[in-house]
Amino acid sequence: LQQADVQLSSKVDASGKTKAIVFSTTATLDVLEVERLCEAVGWPERPREKIKRALENSFMVATLYEVDIDPDTGNRGDTSKGRLIGCARATSDHVFNATLWDIIVDPAYQGVGLGKALVTSMIRSLLARDVANVTLFADQDVIPFYRALGFIIDPEGIKGMFLYPS
Ligand SMILES: CC(C)(COP(=O)(O)OP(=O)(O)OC[C@H]1O[C@@H](n2cnc3c(N)ncnc32)[C@H](O)[C@@H]1OP(=O)(O)O)[C@@H](O)C(=O)NCCC(=O)NCCS
Repeated sequence: LQQADVQLSSKVDASGKTKAIVFSTTATLDVLEVERLCEAVGWPERPREKIKRALENSFMVATLYEVDIDPDTGNRGDTSKGRLIGCARATSDHVFNATLWDIIVDPAYQGVGLGKALVTSMIRSLLARDVANVTLFADQDVIPFYRALGFIIDPEGIKGMFLYPS
């Protein structure tokens, strides 16, 4: 099921160019751009090849791109020519459950509702594929962000449990 890109907003920047922000689940992600975002939010470096494979093996990779709007035609530029400003991915059994990972908004674009739009658009895309149970692991400091989107900590006493390599 191919889902159409969704334009979330548009604005005229300081140089007079019109830019739009687009949510997509079909854009081809450049792993270097993902690394740039991870670095920008201060996440520890991970092997590039592993990030690439994790993206390839994800059920859904959601992106936010800033793209140019052609001043003459009003047409939106392709995401491949845009700037990646946010991304997230979901692993899934393709039927019941999906888990969200690596949710990032470029710090220069944070605090204006894009993180919220990224997660809610992704949940809508998962529901469109009939995957309704959505889980995630939240760092302590972003719990309020997810709570505001309707996520519940430990529903009915269910605990996230972890087995790390010793
Ligand atoms: C978490 C993150 C994706 C939020 O993106 P964002 O675009 O800044 O979020 P939004 O502007 O959509 O914020 C939506 C709401 O959540 C709140 N919020 C955002 N980040 C928050 C945080 N860290 N703690 C508490 N509330 C937060 C906002 O105030 C806003 O509230 P409002 O709707 O009442 O105004 C972004 O801060 C980020 O990329 N952080 C670094 C990576 C990270 O920690 N990812 C999560 C890993 S579990």
